[in-house]
Amino acid sequence: MALATKECLLVVFLWSLTVVLGQNGWGVTYYTQSICALKGSTVELSCTYKYPSGLQITSAFWFTKGPNDDPVNLMEDPDYKDRVIYHSDDENGHKLTIKDLRKSDSAVYKSRFFTVGYKYTGLPGVNLSVTDLQVNMTAATVTDGGSVNLTCNTTCTLIGHTYIWYRNKQLLTNQEVSLHLNPVSSEDAGNYSCAVKGLESLLSPEKKL
Ligand SMILES: *[C@@H]1O[C@H](CO)[C@@H](O)[C@H](O)[C@H]1NC(C)=O
Ligand SMILES: *[C@@H]1O[C@H](CO)[C@@H](O)[C@H](O)[C@H]1NC(C)=O
Ligand SMILES: *[C@@H]1O[C@H](CO)[C@@H](O)[C@H](O)[C@H]1NC(C)=O
Ligand SMILES: *[C@@H]1O[C@H](CO)[C@@H](O)[C@H](O)[C@H]1NC(C)=O
Ligand SMILES: *[C@@H]1O[C@H](CO)[C@@H](O)[C@H](O)[C@H]1NC(C)=O
Repeated sequence: MALATKECLLVVFLWSLTVVLGQNGWGVTYYTQSICALKGSTVELSCTYKYPSGLQITSAFWFTKGPNDDPVNLMEDPDYKDRVIYHSDDENGHKLTIKDLRKSDSAVYKSRFFTVGYKYTGLPGVNLSVTDLQVNMTAATVTDGGSVNLTCNTTCTLIGHTYIWYRNKQLLTNQEVSLHLNPVSSEDAGNYSCAVKGLESLLSPEKKL
């Protein structure tokens, strides 16, 4: 019985050693590689670390600026003051939450961690793009018998959001990225804005038709 347990332990030990050596033992896995987020909203970037067993993480941070081997800890960057939260635990990995997103937050976010004697930066990182919303129209005025298309314009593709539209602050039934007024009539004239469901307070500037 005792012998069986020992053999079993040895097998497990050799197996994990093989896995570690086979994959070089180091890595950062990002939950998403690329994110498009709305200006003013909150985004969460997340990753997990892999390192040879026996080592322990002494510190870790996210960065966008500086060389990969001497970066600036985002938590100490004045551009992000009071807008970032870093949290890490064994179960959920290493998360960076950025609130009140600005267009200037668009960047590649990388995570770096330290163990005694080693440091590691996870490449390529997460590409965060921050967009605002703009109403784009194919015509600026109503012409009899004509048509007008309105598009809720973004600089990157928002995934998993439902678009909503307002005319003179009144919610319309359309829930597509584009609103087709065909034929367009004088009743359609007004101030249009768009937003995404759940983030209604971040609506686009109004555009007059
Ligand atoms: C990040 O994403 C944006 C928008 O999707 C794209 O234009 C840009 O080239 C990407 N940047 C990198 C470094 O991948
Ligand atoms: C915005 O509108 C212009 C015409 O005013 C059109 O050429 C362009 O393709 C539109 N862009 C988008 C993203 O809808
Ligand atoms: C509006 O969009 C529809 C469908 O995409 C298209 O067939 C039509 O030509 C567009 N109208 C204008 C004025 O751009
Ligand atoms: C729509 O977005 C494109 C980029 O996706 C930009 O070039 C264009 O100027 C925008 N149009 C308007 C009317 O905002
Ligand atoms: C639309 O907005 C303009 C200002 O941009 C305002 O003068 C006008 O009264 C608005 N129209 C309606 C119907 O709210």
